[in-house]
Amino acid sequence: MKILGIETSCDDTGIAIYDDENGLIFNEKFNQSLIHNKYGGVVPEIASREHTLNISFLIEKISKNLNINFKKINAIAYTCGPGLIGSLLVGATFGSALAYSLNIPTVLVNHLEAHLISIMMEKKCPIFPFIGMLVSGKHTELIYAHKFGKYSLLGKTRDDSAGEVFDKVAKNLNLNYPGGPEIAKISKFGNFNKYFFPRPMLKTNNLDFSFSGLKTAVVNFIKKQSMLDFQLISDVANAFEESITDVLVTKCKHALKKTRLKRLVISGGVSANILLRRKLRHMVSKCKGEIFFVRPEFCTDNAAMIAYLGMLKFQLNQIQSNLNIYVDPKLKIYNSKMNLNFISNI
Ligand SMILES: Nc1ncnc2c1ncn2[C@@H]1O[C@H](COP(=O)(O)OP(=O)(O)OP(=O)(O)O)[C@@H](O)[C@H]1O
Ligand SMILES: [Mg+2]
Repeated sequence: MKILGIETSCDDTGIAIYDDENGLIFNEKFNQSLIHNKYGGVVPEIASREHTLNISFLIEKISKNLNINFKKINAIAYTCGPGLIGSLLVGATFGSALAYSLNIPTVLVNHLEAHLISIMMEKKCPIFPFIGMLVSGKHTELIYAHKFGKYSLLGKTRDDSAGEVFDKVAKNLNLNYPGGPEIAKISKFGNFNKYFFPRPMLKTNNLDFSFSGLKTAVVNFIKKQSMLDFQLISDVANAFEESITDVLVTKCKHALKKTRLKRLVISGGVSANILLRRKLRHMVSKCKGEIFFVRPEFCTDNAAMIAYLGMLKFQLNQIQSNLNIYVDPKLKIYNSKMNLNFISNI
């Protein structure tokens, strides 16, 4: 069985084919960051235009490189949300048209569920239930994953996502977009503890996050400096990375404690962060739990996770057999919010 996955939720155009016998047989993406870099963030209209150019090019690449017979593909899985409406529509329309021409069904894939479930493509993967932390460009959420397709929200950011704050701080430090990897690179040259930024919402009795205060504190500090030299940028990046990773790790620790679960999965772009991984490993080993990381290339957007989740859904017959095109820019992963009092009584 072969499922072709299409990812166009934001600024990465991805196409992949997942084969239930041979695993991932094609996985390519066009990254648009160079194009958006000069604007300091993704420009939605440019992103959708780029998707329309890139998507057919990637499909042609499959026919040339893989010599695959498209008639052997069983379904087309596409990201139906959340994301930028224009970008989502490019993938959804292209995917549906391709499915129609091949007379096969489409499978609707939730981008966030794909981020979370991408861990199942790894050799070391968890069994349900587990706690998942989604830390990406637009989301910071703690999820209780009961079983495949059933997720409850434990807590989420009340304002900015962790990824957004990495990008914003990087922009103010004159670093490139996306800011996360740039901050991580330069913070290695920073002096540990030279500066200290707040760790918001660590003492609240819930699993929500708030990063806008931290962002403002760092940006205001940067604006007060008369000159940004390499050492100052590195010191600020170091202090910021320490602060945001402390918050993420502490909230994960609280989530494990409150739910009494031992398995923690981290996914989404920010989960590629090495310092975050190191601190999480340390915390989880102290709690005698288990941590599961997605390999770095699958942390940020990719079509492999879409094709893979598409295959799981196809096997459960969760397909679209009509010609409707469906996108929801605000699609959520969770079906319910979990009551913390209830959890502490388990
Ligand atoms: N090594 C890293 N350290 C910290 N942040 C990182 C790292 N690598 C990537 N990021 C951040 O990850 C984010 C991109 O992640 P991802 O591609 O999952 O987000 P998205 O798809 O735009 O958003 P969403 O998945 O919420 O719709 C960016 O904000 C980027 O700065
Ligand atoms: Mg994403």
